[in-house]
Amino acid sequence: MRPKITYYGHSCFSIEISGKSILFDPFITPNPKASMIDVSTIQPDLILVTHGHGDHIADLVTIAKQCKAQVISAYEIIEWLSDQGIKNGLPMNIGGTINLGFCKIKMVKAEHSSSFSDGSYAGNAAGFIIQSNDCCFYYAGDTALTMDMQLIPLSYNLDFSFLPIGDNFTMGVEDAVKASKLIECKKVIGMHFDTFPPIEIDHKHAYDSFSDGGINLILPLINQTFEL
Ligand code: NI
Ligand code: MN
Repeated sequence: MRPKITYYGHSCFSIEISGKSILFDPFITPNPKASMIDVSTIQPDLILVTHGHGDHIADLVTIAKQCKAQVISAYEIIEWLSDQGIKNGLPMNIGGTINLGFCKIKMVKAEHSSSFSDGSYAGNAAGFIIQSNDCCFYYAGDTALTMDMQLIPLSYNLDFSFLPIGDNFTMGVEDAVKASKLIECKKVIGMHFDTFPPIEIDHKHAYDSFSDGGINLILPLINQTFEL
């Protein structure tokens, strides 16, 4: 089955694999560009959270409560959720893998920071590699280009990857092209771009830069569902 992906803006996607839906980094209601999305209709089976910054967790508590999805994130974020009554979290840390039956999830390093809006510690920023019968993909979270990415293709044959491309807070386009080469992935879905003025990008330049590197870039439209 081909994975079906819906874009909710910024770095928030849901992806359907093996009949289950996984939501990444829910940030919707504070994003004026995603105002057409009704958060109450989002009912994932699983929520994956890369770090504690507001632009990745703004709607986490609401969605986790409404759908009773399991939440996978850093130990510190799962503790924080537990304090708010969300008890079905699965804590992980970098380097660990868990097997959920329908997929295996590995938490990998991201070169970024992670704190809650009050400044308290939210663990290490992370990315995830998801492996199912349908596909294997990398969701990088917020990260700089880092040599650690070279480790990924030693163990995984990625079908596609979600990479930040907005620059300023994460990699920009040029570094994301280099990252695609380090991870040996030819199909990239761009994220973390255009939401705020500092991360606005030139779409044509982005498409050209990736295609010059032999990589197929997808810049998703908000509220769009597409198959890979
Ligand atoms: Ni961040
Ligand atoms: Mn961010």
